[in-house]
Amino acid sequence: MDIAVIGTGYVGLVSGVCFAEVGNNVICVDQDKQKIDKLQNFISPIYEPGIEELMEKNIHAGRLAFTTDLAHAISQSELIIIAVGTPSLPNGEANLSYIEQASMEIGKAMNGYKIIATKSTVPVGTNEHIQMIIAMNTQHAFDVVSIPEFLREGSAIDDTLHPDRIVLGLDNPSLAEPLTDLHRAFTDQIFVTSIRSAEMIKYASNAFLATKISFINEISNICEKVGADVTEVAKGMGKDKRIGSSFLNAGIGYGGSCFPKDTDALIQIAGNVDYEFQLLKSVVEVNKSQRYKVISKLEASLGLLSGKVVGIWGLSFKPNTDDIRYAPSIEIVETLIRAGATLKLYDPIAMDKFRERIDHPSIQWCENAMEAAVGADAICLLTDWEEFKTISLSKLIFIMDQPILIDGRNVYSQEQIQGTGLKYYSVGRPD
Ligand code: UGA
Repeated sequence: MDIAVIGTGYVGLVSGVCFAEVGNNVICVDQDKQKIDKLQNFISPIYEPGIEELMEKNIHAGRLAFTTDLAHAISQSELIIIAVGTPSLPNGEANLSYIEQASMEIGKAMNGYKIIATKSTVPVGTNEHIQMIIAMNTQHAFDVVSIPEFLREGSAIDDTLHPDRIVLGLDNPSLAEPLTDLHRAFTDQIFVTSIRSAEMIKYASNAFLATKISFINEISNICEKVGADVTEVAKGMGKDKRIGSSFLNAGIGYGGSCFPKDTDALIQIAGNVDYEFQLLKSVVEVNKSQRYKVISKLEASLGLLSGKVVGIWGLSFKPNTDDIRYAPSIEIVETLIRAGATLKLYDPIAMDKFRERIDHPSIQWCENAMEAAVGADAICLLTDWEEFKTISLSKLIFIMDQPILIDGRNVYSQEQIQGTGLKYYSVGRPD
């Protein structure tokens, strides 16, 4: 199929590259000329393992191109994918201005029948709004469909090439067959439903995953008080197929560009139809407070934090990405600075992005995890990067001022800690 993708952010770029990888002709469009220049030279604006290799391969194969020329891309394509951002407005609602702009431009550029698919996360009813805007700007026939995206940062390529399911939201039944055929290259698990249900599936899925995380975090807080081990509890719960074992890792809470934004938006969507989504409001509140458990643990072991040196391992909201949007590390670092601590920060990839966000005389930027530990009164592990899992813990006692390790992601086992001389505190597990 000939496909145009509007927007080369996470969703747009990864979808475009993966559609090309399975044999389609794809043109990705963005209005940012500098970004397009880089993409044409195989440089990805996002850090995502494997993406640049796939870009290069498919550009050379003649299946993938990048342009700022939206009209050209539309005229060449049968399927147009909208993958522009839907950031949060101050009240939590999704900002649809990029979607509206893209819809208008698509309408103006159409030269015949097109299928327009929305991959951006949009509130229920938005696709009808898109349909109206396009209709106001074209004489040509078209259909709008909703194909929500479920990829995760850090494993976006694999998630897109091998998804658990594809959701096709369409109100014109004749589109079920061609769109199912197009997506069969990725999986046989294709679920066809109405547009409104597809829009809701995306928000409900993210809200449910966020709920699992806040649920296990609250269980971990209770485990600490009753002497149970949350990792064992999660394992035991997960053996029940109805519960499942994934997304039950207790820690300092979720961050990133999706869960915080989409949970706020769903609360707002419900509010707009006079429904108070009480459960999801609590999920959000639990998530906001969970990050401060690290600070309480530091205070419990060090007393006053003023003048103390704290090493931080990991800044990105999760491993394998340089994304720090809504990362718990931001508030933890800001709180420690306010408390008068000196901070030694290290992250394998996200240091530059973090420094753009927060720079302060109390921060020392370190080249590796060991450097962040030298002279520290405590280390806080905030992101579960693979390299922290294999670090030589027995060396820490020789380079730290006080051998305190606060593990915000439950990365280490008691066996790994034994014999290291470390005072070790994790989340929801006996000390
Ligand atoms: C999430 C969803 O998992 C994707 O399915 C969805 O497509 C995407 O949002 C989106 O809407 O675009 P992502 O934000 O990339 O993907 O990352 P996740 O792997 O879901 O992790 C989100 C946060 O939850 C991270 O901060 C992670 O550390 C935290 N988390 C995850 C936990 O604290 N515990 C867990 O058990 C799992």
